[in-house]
Amino acid sequence: MEKRWWKESVVYQIYPRSFCDSNGDGIGDLNGITGKLDYLKELGIDVIWLSPVYKSPNDDNGYDISDYQAIMDEFGTMEDFDRMLATAHEKGIKIMMDLVVNHTSDEHKWFIESRKSTDNPYRDYYIWRPAKEDGSLPNNWGSCFSGPAWEYDKTTDMYFLHLFSKKQPDLNWDNPAVRQDVFDMMNWWLKKGVDGFRMDVISLISKEPGLPDKETGINGYATFNVSANGPHVHEYLQEMRQKALNNADTITVGECSGVTLEEAKKYARSDEKELNMVFQFEHMDVDSDEKAGKWTTRKMDLRNLKKILTRWQKGLQDIAWNSLYWENHDQPRSVSRFGNDNPAYRETSAKMLATCLHMMQGTPYVYQGEELGMTNAYFTELKDYRDIESIQYFHEYTEAGIYTPEYMMKCLMLRGRDNARTPMQWDDSANAGFTTGTPWIKVNSNYPKVNAKQEISDPDSVFSYYKKLIRLRHENEIIVYGDYKLLAPEDEALFIYTRMLGTQRLMVLCNFTEKEVSIPAEVTEQIPADAKLLIGNYSKQKEEMLQAYEARVYAYHLKILEKKKHPRLV
Ligand code: GLC
Ligand code: CA
Repeated sequence: MEKRWWKESVVYQIYPRSFCDSNGDGIGDLNGITGKLDYLKELGIDVIWLSPVYKSPNDDNGYDISDYQAIMDEFGTMEDFDRMLATAHEKGIKIMMDLVVNHTSDEHKWFIESRKSTDNPYRDYYIWRPAKEDGSLPNNWGSCFSGPAWEYDKTTDMYFLHLFSKKQPDLNWDNPAVRQDVFDMMNWWLKKGVDGFRMDVISLISKEPGLPDKETGINGYATFNVSANGPHVHEYLQEMRQKALNNADTITVGECSGVTLEEAKKYARSDEKELNMVFQFEHMDVDSDEKAGKWTTRKMDLRNLKKILTRWQKGLQDIAWNSLYWENHDQPRSVSRFGNDNPAYRETSAKMLATCLHMMQGTPYVYQGEELGMTNAYFTELKDYRDIESIQYFHEYTEAGIYTPEYMMKCLMLRGRDNARTPMQWDDSANAGFTTGTPWIKVNSNYPKVNAKQEISDPDSVFSYYKKLIRLRHENEIIVYGDYKLLAPEDEALFIYTRMLGTQRLMVLCNFTEKEVSIPAEVTEQIPADAKLLIGNYSKQKEEMLQAYEARVYAYHLKILEKKKHPRLV
């Protein structure tokens, strides 16, 4: 397998709005990030993925961009950005920008032009269609944020497509001028010295010709995945690689909703013609409902999670490259979702989840606060929610009688994106040290207990554990490049796998339950008596049992192969 720096890196995602506020307006900003780079250096990460910082009317917190080459007023200035970039580079930290080019804001100058007339030079930058002959919408596609994916515009008596909010019109990637403008913009950022891009919903950019009707979901619209992996997506990404990405030594990851394993091999193939890696979503759907998608209170079955992750681990091995994540700004907190955020188990289960993920093959991503074991906020009132997705779906599902308000609120508490967007918990002072003003979204009330200041100084904290995991990855090739193999696939409580590199072995043991569970004999047999405990989340182990949410990683060498070195056997 080719060695690459981006395979050996650990990426940390910053959601700037919620990271650190330097001027007391209640909104995180670039100077806030610059001030916390030493914290990230201490954690040991290599790359920052910065959620969008471009000019935006903030309908979707910066994922609706009105100027790709300017900074959002609330986040600071281009000088602030340059200072942040230079300071990060001085500390050896790379910066990966969020590239949101499936759509722009409706306040982007291209769209302002586009909507003016059918013969405007920018008309074909977006996807315009008339109503069907019977006056109905151009097709049955739905917006990812509820309702239809079409918005009527009276100036030209036509509809424009928006797979997200109606303030996020989709760009028409079939237009070569759109592609060229995007590549020029990317080159402008590369010239500035940024190190790569995380590509927002990049799997959706190529729409199926004719925009046909598709099967509908619970709200009567076809899901936004209707245009995933369209006919030209690979062609467009190859063009992007040649015309922009190859101009620098970049790290790239595509957010690929609706991507299958077979598709992922094309996006992230090791011949490096498209992207370095993808974010796949299958493991994020492990607790979804077939019809209602994420809006459910279902719990996952560990056997399914193991099956999915194993399929991706093995499927991409030697062919493409994986990315590893439990969290990001679109997902609830992993300790609340896959672990246990009861104070008795919060730290142990957060460390267990971290072990399970960081010992796999792929580039790991840590989302801000995950390294502290931050939990869901569980807001119980709609007025505390800020996310357009949660608010719009709450209205749609309850008004159409699909769910009762009580049940829908439960879904928001478990799955809403705001769970990940509450302010970073820096210390136990007012507002968790995030701001001296009024935060734009409420702080999680557990901050007096769960915060960076306390965890940095505690060698047994979740933070210290992450630090160790990151260091181990930097020091042990097997963690980056070793082959993966699942053991005991049918075990309902334990996730056990090995990594293999030459004669080296790692045995990773994780208990996903609060019960004490015995380790299967087929596993204990493989661990030699002199195996070294590389990391673990309990100070005392029991020989044949894993305690509640226990995780252990053993390192050893394969005995059989060592024997071969014996002169008589050569
Ligand atoms: C991606 C982003 C999400 C955003 C959406 C539309 O899924 O991660 O936050 O709402 O794209 O840009
Ligand atoms: Ca601010």
